Amino acid sequence: MKILITAGPTREYIDDVRFLSNGSSGKMGYSIADECLKKGHAVKLISGPVQLSAPEGVDLVRVVSAEEMFAAVKENLRWCEVLVMCAAVADFKPADGVAGKIKKSSMPLDLKLQPNPDILKGISDQKEDRVFVGFAAESGDPVDSARIKLSEKNLDMIVANDVSRPDAGFEVDTNKIVIIDNKGLVKDLPVMSKRDAAVEIVDWIDSCRD
Ligand code: PMT
Repeated sequence: MKILITAGPTREYIDDVRFLSNGSSGKMGYSIADECLKKGHAVKLISGPVQLSAPEGVDLVRVVSAEEMFAAVKENLRWCEVLVMCAAVADFKPADGVAGKIKKSSMPLDLKLQPNPDILKGISDQKEDRVFVGFAAESGDPVDSARIKLSEKNLDMIVANDVSRPDAGFEVDTNKIVIIDNKGLVKDLPVMSKRDAAVEIVDWIDSCRD
């Protein structure tokens, strides 16, 4: 299958040197890309800024901001049969970008924010027969909130993770995921490496096209 994956954070620049972002390392999304390749799928990986090398054989598209990621997803959507939105897209960006470097003398600074586009909602009318997989980053039991996102974002499956745990979510090498699909599956998995979590996610992707 042709699988489009997003990974990593986005950066929303306040001035030429400072940005709003989050702690996504890209490990979860890159592990999914790696596993997809091992299973013989073609992979395009749209990645925010991370310190990882793309697995050999991946078609890598680098982006920085949420708007750039949105444009790259729209540009590559027709190509894919499956979309996996693992990226931690920044929900807000500065309302007014400032050229140059803001001087300390401008403090206190009134930073106004505006929402970024929701990528999954923005492409849901182009889904057709594609399989859409999302993630839900929640603090505390992630299942109820993930179910709402599964439905609101028109997804076939969502991977819920409790990012308040020290052994799950951002940056760490392990994750504790619950796979929830639109046919009623709720698979609550134990803590495992992100590589093993990726195996579970790609097994689900493979099974839905059997
Ligand atoms: O990169 P790692 O360090 O390995 O960390 C992995 C992870 C914690 C980033 C990953 O497991 C994860 O949870 N990714 C999703 C993070 C997120 O943005 O979750 P959310 O619940 O805010 O968003 C729900 C879904 O909507 C996600 O599929 C997200 O990609 C998507 N989204 C979010 C915001 C936005 N503006 N547009 C979107 O499409």
